[in-house]
Amino acid sequence: MTYASQPTPASQPRAPEDPRARARSNRVAALGIGVLAVVLGFLAGRFNPLLTGSTSSEGVKVDALFSVLLGIGTAIFVVVQGGLLYSIIRFRQKSDDDDDAPAVRGNVGLEILWTAIPAAILTGLAVYSYATLANIETPAPDAITVQVTGRQFAWDFYYPDRDVHSPELHVPLGLQVHLVMHSDDVIHAFWVPDFRVKKDVMPDRVTEVRFTADKAGTYPIVCSRLCGVGHAFMRSNVVVQPENIFATWLYAQQTGATVQAGGQPATPAAAGKAVFEQNNCGACHTLKDANAAGKVGPDLNSIGTSAAKIIQDPGYKGKATDAASYIRESIVEPNAYVVPNYPPNVMPQNFGQTISAKDLDNLVQYLLSQK
Ligand code: CUA
Repeated sequence: MTYASQPTPASQPRAPEDPRARARSNRVAALGIGVLAVVLGFLAGRFNPLLTGSTSSEGVKVDALFSVLLGIGTAIFVVVQGGLLYSIIRFRQKSDDDDDAPAVRGNVGLEILWTAIPAAILTGLAVYSYATLANIETPAPDAITVQVTGRQFAWDFYYPDRDVHSPELHVPLGLQVHLVMHSDDVIHAFWVPDFRVKKDVMPDRVTEVRFTADKAGTYPIVCSRLCGVGHAFMRSNVVVQPENIFATWLYAQQTGATVQAGGQPATPAAAGKAVFEQNNCGACHTLKDANAAGKVGPDLNSIGTSAAKIIQDPGYKGKATDAASYIRESIVEPNAYVVPNYPPNVMPQNFGQTISAKDLDNLVQYLLSQK
């Protein structure tokens, strides 16, 4: 069977199209796609639907840069996809058309154009990005410095001027905050989505970040680097306060560390609860008294009574002789005895170094009081 003997298609051969009319309709389509690209690009950049407003002055500049990127990206997307769609529909093969497509061997003018335009756009964006980065990283003379320590699986914020540690980052409204960050163990990353601030926190070097919060409120801090089983719980908050309230808070932390709100001296157990919270033990352990619901390690709800039973157990291999020494051993040397059905090497091995002797005593007293 040859092609000639195949049945001819039912449709009648079309009259050849007028090339001038064809060129005209292509120009109209190109103009339409161009106008659509400009309008949609402008709308996407102007009303950026992907971001709600940032609450730091640096974040506002980052958002402005991102909106420009989004606008330009949208316009290019519409031009490319619009041209593609138009070509697919307009130049599709007719059912009676067995011709080869015309051989096209490049178009120098077009190639210069599509090289020059992206080069100009990218150069402009590089300059704008550099200017934005330089701007948001400029130190302010009145910036306050906070030292940040990341460890599995908690954040510690240290105010060196007042010798104050806090598990939550408190900062004054409208003042630049300079964070000097370091990790005690693995790589973490400090991320405040509302401020558009994100940077790795590493064991072998110090990293820095600056931000100026310009709206009072509480914003989440997230660890954004997978750092172990408790990674998902390695969260804290930034509390942005007017300067006088921040100063009061800092003063209370400095003077009142061992005094509770009512002015009563804190018991060792109450001080130990603060140590429990500061080290984010609740990320891995359940303890109702501390609102903790972690499931990685053993439940501590009645550790004050169960500790004494554990050391009586024939399976117990540690050196502890009473409940208090068992709790202490479990904190500073967690692999000495691992409760059945829990994996070894999950609890950090260095709490004996990172928690001070006094804090450790208080923590043991606190856990002993959980009956
Ligand atoms: Cu620290 Cu993830």
